[in-house]
Amino acid sequence: MKKTVTDFKGCLKPVPDILVSCRNKEGKNNALAVACACNCSMNPPMIMAGIVPGRYSYEFVKETGVFVVNLVTEELRTQYAYLGSHSGRDEDKLAKLGMKIGEGVKINAPILLDCPVSIECTVVDSIKTGTHEMFVGKVEYIHAKEEFILENGSVDYAKINLLKFR
Ligand SMILES: Cc1cc2nc3c(=O)[nH]c(=O)nc-3n(C[C@H](O)[C@H](O)[C@H](O)COP(=O)(O)O)c2cc1C
Repeated sequence: MKKTVTDFKGCLKPVPDILVSCRNKEGKNNALAVACACNCSMNPPMIMAGIVPGRYSYEFVKETGVFVVNLVTEELRTQYAYLGSHSGRDEDKLAKLGMKIGEGVKINAPILLDCPVSIECTVVDSIKTGTHEMFVGKVEYIHAKEEFILENGSVDYAKINLLKFR
């Protein structure tokens, strides 16, 4: 017998645990943990990442119109928790954690090299929801560690030990 649930917050499960990395116009890099994210178009391929306007990263994505979605493994749990609970306003989080940074190929944004897959996106639209602004990102380029790329050029996601944060 089903009963009524009164807490509606974050009711859709499972949620992805991704790191969105970004760079501001002065060249400062930052990243934050994001759970409000999903695929939202297959053709053209697009993904959506929700950022609360108060986040430091929000300013970066707003001003540059680009961001990178990095998939996260269990091995990066500590870094994920840190990037999701401290603000780049107060410190250079990526440097503090010793995270390796690469360059975007199609966009001017940092790639998190410790992550197995990094997806470069340009913002094509955004929707202000209750708490978040959902940035619709057109997928421009995907980096993946060699061991996770199949012969046909797709990613072998089953091979990646994806983080399940909560
Ligand atoms: C598991 C988890 C999920 C999160 N999901 C989101 C999210 O979807 N959107 C968001 O804006 N912040 C989310 N956060 C919070 C930000 O990652 C956090 O406030 C971060 O410190 C912001 O960093 P910044 O100020 O450097 O941008 C999440 C945090 C955690 C731990």
